[in-house]
Amino acid sequence: MERIIQEHEAPELHQSPGSGPHGSTGSGPHESPGSEPEATRRDADVTESSRASRGWWDRNADDYQIEHGTFLGDDRFVWGPEGLDEVEAELLGPPEDLAGKDVLEIGAGAAQCSRWLAAQGARPVALDLSHRQLQHALRIDAERSGGDRLRIDAERPGEDRPAAEGAGARAAGVPLVQADAGALPFADGSFDLACSAYGALPFVADPVRVLRDVRRVLRPGGRFVFSVSHPMRWAFPDEPGPEGLSVAASYFDRTPYVEQDEQGRAVYVEHHRTLGDRVRDVVAGGFRLVDLVEPEWPAWNTQEWGGWSPLRGNLIPGTAIFVCERD
Ligand SMILES: C[S@@+](CC[C@H](N)C(=O)[O-])C[C@H]1O[C@@H](n2cnc3c(N)ncnc32)[C@H](O)[C@@H]1O
Repeated sequence: MERIIQEHEAPELHQSPGSGPHGSTGSGPHESPGSEPEATRRDADVTESSRASRGWWDRNADDYQIEHGTFLGDDRFVWGPEGLDEVEAELLGPPEDLAGKDVLEIGAGAAQCSRWLAAQGARPVALDLSHRQLQHALRIDAERSGGDRLRIDAERPGEDRPAAEGAGARAAGVPLVQADAGALPFADGSFDLACSAYGALPFVADPVRVLRDVRRVLRPGGRFVFSVSHPMRWAFPDEPGPEGLSVAASYFDRTPYVEQDEQGRAVYVEHHRTLGDRVRDVVAGGFRLVDLVEPEWPAWNTQEWGGWSPLRGNLIPGTAIFVCERD
């Protein structure tokens, strides 16, 4: 855990070659721009996965926000490349019930979802492993407030809000915390709700550890809703076109997808869980699974996002959203 963002200015976005989908870049499934890592399948433990994720997202946050920022919107809550919006999905409950709720967003990126939650009257905290992603949260806030210099108040965690130990910055009211989802820097029972739109869970080696920690920081009756790549995608090449429609690997092979540098250090890691694994993880994490949502590709969405596309989306699921409650 470290303090973040106090003295850093938000980045400007410069157009550069696009990078990819939730969790990866263009072809793939997952390729880092600007370098030529070797793609392989091998084990990667908690520490190596976390280190790789932080580095990858720090290096690729700019491209990610350039490529996907418009689709995500500055203050929308989109669950995945299908474009399912929390406004219609209401997986966290009716929007009118969100007012006054303490909400933790995990793997928040540029805090787009948190900004929507704040607009509903909720009190979100946006947590992410990547410093650069959180800098983009500050950039968006600065742009929305007229492009003035950022006013960052790292010393005032906010009345009634759960305060992150030693970490925190605020812009436009949403506290930002840089931390790993597997070690949440909050007291027990700090939040009413937690959510994660493709944040952290696809990238961690020990999802049960994350789920247990999320349960810990939730109050009794709390809800955790998270989206991940649909497990079925694992068997298919990460291609948006017809070549992405033929099974190329075993759905049952949990060996992580790893990109490594010349020294053999992981620079990108993605972990696969089957659908059954995910259900067992949720239960082992101490939650009840109350719904599993598989958004269908809507007719209005003509946009490709890496391997997610209208072609594939009309035939196979791309996203799985787990709605979990703690007693
Ligand atoms: C695909 S992005 C999703 C961001 C945002 N929810 C969105 O939809 O744009 C995944 C995010 O998860 C973050 N992340 C990855 N591993 C994490 C971890 N172990 N703990 C916290 N955040 C993590 C990344 O830094 C990245 O911002």
